[in-house]
Amino acid sequence: MLITFEGIDGSGKSTQATMLEQRLRKKGERVLLVREPGGTELSERVRSILLDPGVHINKMAELLLFSAARSELVEEVLVPALRNDTIVICDRFTDSTLAYQGGGREVAARDWLEAFNRIVTNGLVPMRTYYLAIDHAEAMRRRELREGGNNGDRMEQTGTDFYERIISSYDDIAQTDCQRVMRIDGRLPVGEIHDLIWADLDELKVEG
Ligand code: ADP
Ligand code: TYD
Repeated sequence: MLITFEGIDGSGKSTQATMLEQRLRKKGERVLLVREPGGTELSERVRSILLDPGVHINKMAELLLFSAARSELVEEVLVPALRNDTIVICDRFTDSTLAYQGGGREVAARDWLEAFNRIVTNGLVPMRTYYLAIDHAEAMRRRELREGGNNGDRMEQTGTDFYERIISSYDDIAQTDCQRVMRIDGRLPVGEIHDLIWADLDELKVEG
């Protein structure tokens, strides 16, 4: 079972992904938590290039680098774990490409990117995606608290308009792919969000 978390930087994905991982582990489930880009040696190296504010990357190269990191992660880590009946939790996955490269950078149309994502992942689609929705101002406040006023990574140095386009892409994905994507108000307290996710997963399992 593949579960993914999506949302803008600072929306609470890592917090929720970790809470879910720990609760599933306590229940005795086999769980793997990974983040994108990352999770293999190549993907971690590509991550450090992608997030380095000192490196200029054009938008097509950016799409291809995120996708290269994902391809490695899927083949080397995700598919073997899923075959082994492990619950895989991924902090970001293909919707990040639709929202950031599609919506934010406007590198290509959504249907093109969806087809491209299918090629990159060999058709691997999450069983459930939790989209934590917050506005850009709230994300900035949280990042300020977390990082204490530094300028952030290369992606985070982009302006408000970029984030507004990403948010509207995520909202669009949540609407058109509502069977898979659950949109959650990311301003709710951490424990409440976790309870919503836990209840949803419980229901999914009951339905088989
Ligand atoms: P992301 O992984 O999406 O970047 P994090 O989980 O790292 O987000 O959270 C960003 C910051 O916001 C952290 O300091 C975290 O403690 C805080 N945070 C996470 N969830 C909430 C929430 N629901 N309400 C308020 N603050 C939160
Ligand atoms: P990361 O620190 O993992 O995310 P967060 O700040 O939310 O905790 O940084 C990953 C960055 O890469 C983030 O700005 C989103 C971006 N990204 C894309 O633009 N496209 C993608 O396909 C992925 C996976 C991430």
